[in-house]
Amino acid sequence: MNEPNSNDFVVVANRLPVDMETPEDGGPPVWRRSPGGLVTAMETVLRSSEGAWVGWPGTPDVHLDPFEEDGLALYPVELSAREVEEYYEGFSNDTLWPLYHDALIPPTFDRRWWRTYREVNQRFAEAAAQAAAPGATVWVHDYQLQLVPRMLRELRPDVTIGFFLHIPFPPTELFLQLPWRKAIVDGLLGADLVGFHLPGGAQNFLYLANRLFGLPAPRGTSSGGAIDLGDRTVRVGAYPISIDSAQLHDRSQEKEIRERAAEIRHDLGDPEVMLLGVDRLDYTKGIDIRLEALHELFAEGTLDPEKVVMVQLATPSRERLTAYARLRDQVEREVGRINGEFARIGSPVVHYLHASVDRDELLAMYTGADVMLVTPLRDGMNLVAKEYVACHSDGSGALVLSEFAGAAAELRRAMLVNPHDLEGVKRAIVEAIGEDPAERKRRMETMHAHVMKYDVAHWSRSFLDDLRATSDAHAGT
Ligand code: ADP
Ligand code: G6P
Repeated sequence: MNEPNSNDFVVVANRLPVDMETPEDGGPPVWRRSPGGLVTAMETVLRSSEGAWVGWPGTPDVHLDPFEEDGLALYPVELSAREVEEYYEGFSNDTLWPLYHDALIPPTFDRRWWRTYREVNQRFAEAAAQAAAPGATVWVHDYQLQLVPRMLRELRPDVTIGFFLHIPFPPTELFLQLPWRKAIVDGLLGADLVGFHLPGGAQNFLYLANRLFGLPAPRGTSSGGAIDLGDRTVRVGAYPISIDSAQLHDRSQEKEIRERAAEIRHDLGDPEVMLLGVDRLDYTKGIDIRLEALHELFAEGTLDPEKVVMVQLATPSRERLTAYARLRDQVEREVGRINGEFARIGSPVVHYLHASVDRDELLAMYTGADVMLVTPLRDGMNLVAKEYVACHSDGSGALVLSEFAGAAAELRRAMLVNPHDLEGVKRAIVEAIGEDPAERKRRMETMHAHVMKYDVAHWSRSFLDDLRATSDAHAGT
């Protein structure tokens, strides 16, 4: 399986699904699941179809031959420490990430970072070209690899190339700030199908292709379209990503998880209300906003700290970047402030874990929580919201969800909030806690039915069926 040019289906993403960690005591490296929604979704997809995964093992300067880990064929791409700094931390996460998330912090435009981004994208394209069998389907993922489709097409015109963006595609006037905007759009136009979560992203991309390259006005509908390049056509569409809903739902129903959920609540002091937040520690997620809302609700006496407890799980993320270090300080200060003012000895009001927890523990938290707080300022989709809903088939629980998460387009019966409106966030939390049980149940059941139907298999099937249709069209079938 790990031979060159032997895979009919290849996934290419910045990270492999597992991260290599070298213990400080110098022991042998251990593999851990990589963070983030991309890995959650794509691991399920790859497990249900034979294929290979090309990506970085998460540690600089490690050379590894292709290998198999837990049944997945992995093709590692090596990055030097300088490349991690300039391509990953720099261009990917200090230029593109903020730019694509509404410029919540000012993006840095650095020519050196751009050069390294191009070089590393070329390396990923070469690794994909080596892994792919003749006529294979190659699915490239996310903002770190937007030049790969074009580079891969040049190396391997025989393969069918799909690209999916897991984060929001920005409004065109923001995208146009990027000094390398033409090269990025050209990179993406190397694909046969370019997918976004939402129709708005697809529309913005179609507009930019037209504006930057003077291509004929794209043919399309509100959810996508096609760009005619003369010798071939690039399709563009919206494919809202999802989760392995049945697996999550079934596991959450098991006795072991239910018991653990009860135990967690007991350990929290059997509060009347358990609020939950689960995020990577990222400034897009609005963790600070929900903490501020909670602080005010306690301070005003609207909520009683003897009855309401919050758990916030925060996976460490991109820790060497200033904006992330600053956010961590801010969140930890706010947690300290709330506990300092409202906790009693042995009974914190906010339980904050700067850590990733394992899947079963996470499911127990979701199952046990009365109200899930998902308040990003901008988020491509937000799988956490869908995961919570999947664990509440009995109609229990309430979801407070930001309008600026992609998931809000589907989970219309959540308590939708504008995270910039602190009073609105506070109101939604209070309403979610006090809502009439019958109404709460109706809301959750509607959302649960949606998430069960539109799962990750539905997402990947829709994308891959459309991608295959593009290659059938080339072959004239
Ligand atoms: P992002 O991809 O931006 O991190 P998503 O909400 O789409 O955001 O996906 C995050 C994924 O990571 C989900 O599958 C979620 O279950 C998982 N996750 C987030 N925080 C934690 C945590 N502290 N422990 C375990 N898993 C987590
Ligand atoms: C988001 C991005 C992914 C990324 C993940 C974790 O989900 O869309 O591409 O892998 O965050 O971030 P990291 O920088 O740790 O890979």
